[in-house]
Amino acid sequence: MSDLATLTQQALDEVAASTTLAALGEVRVRWLGKKGLLTEQLKSLGALPAAERPAAGAKINDAKQVVQAAIEAAEAKLVAAEVEAQLAAGRIDVTATGRGEARGGVHPVTRARLRIESIFRHSGFEIATGPEIEDDFHNFEALNIPADHPARAMHDTFYFPDGRLLRTHTSPVQIRELRKGRLPLAMIMPGRVYRCDYDMTHSPMFHQVEGLVVNENVSFANLKATLQGFLQAYFERDLRTRLRPSYFPFTEPSAEVDMSCVFCNGEGCRVCKHTGWLEVGGCGMVHPNVFKAAGVDAERWTGYAFGMGIERLAMLRDGVSDLRLFFESDLRFLRQFGAA
Ligand code: FA5
Ligand code: MG
Repeated sequence: MSDLATLTQQALDEVAASTTLAALGEVRVRWLGKKGLLTEQLKSLGALPAAERPAAGAKINDAKQVVQAAIEAAEAKLVAAEVEAQLAAGRIDVTATGRGEARGGVHPVTRARLRIESIFRHSGFEIATGPEIEDDFHNFEALNIPADHPARAMHDTFYFPDGRLLRTHTSPVQIRELRKGRLPLAMIMPGRVYRCDYDMTHSPMFHQVEGLVVNENVSFANLKATLQGFLQAYFERDLRTRLRPSYFPFTEPSAEVDMSCVFCNGEGCRVCKHTGWLEVGGCGMVHPNVFKAAGVDAERWTGYAFGMGIERLAMLRDGVSDLRLFFESDLRFLRQFGAA
């Protein structure tokens, strides 16, 4: 029994030296296990005289309890340290900047539309929109295009079984706005339009921007000035424009708005079909029949209207020679405009 104190100290030293939970577990088995060094001491009690046994047994149990308590304290410390280490290893710095972030951008056709809207807004035009699914009345009839009119064949219309249709131009919004009866007015009406059409300069879905100005004494000269002013502001460079006599059922007189081809500088190329000119839109003075269908007094009011292709304007400004690139979602193309 003389060496119980020495044994206890030895056990406590081993506990203190254990730096891992596994090592501590081994120490526990070595001293307190069934065949542990302190447990073995109890077995030696039989060799003592009966009178000494209780006191000696109590001492051994005290020693075991001291070691047990030391092990538990050491274990608690090691578990806490392990949790700390795990937390430190998995720490997330929420203030760190992200890696490989990619900024999205505005599609070049949308950018063109916003640019057009901004220029007209600065000249006092309001912006209006109308439905893409239209009825025959707004898309054709009220625009002086009766059922048997040859102009209908030129529109390559997508029809629904019930007779409604995908609007083929933004001109039906003219009718919707005129029928509100708020005159005078000056507005542009941008939006998607649809035609069964597909090549380098035509797409089945494209965008137009309609213009409509109605007042007393509006003239063709006002129309020409507005278009020229707009095109100059939009392109910010020297471009020739021309109004070529044309025909639209809803305007009289009518004209096509052409611009010198930016790809060949008017020399003639594949894009302009060797004419040196690119058509950007149509225009004219509002036909009296249109006013009549919209309930506007044609004796009092005069107006001009125009409709331009937004993709055409975007192509010309950005030097894109194939309109289909706008709709293919090819990131190599879109990135050149700062988009995604
Ligand atoms: C019209 O759609 C008339 N509503 C324009 C108008 C409005 C005339 C008001 C008079 C008064 P047009 O079919 O020519 O006209 O089309 C106008 C423009 O839309 C064209 O000059 C062209 O720039 C563009 N465009 C026409 N078809 C397509 C297409 N399939 N893909 C891309 N752009 C097109
Ligand atoms: Mg045309």
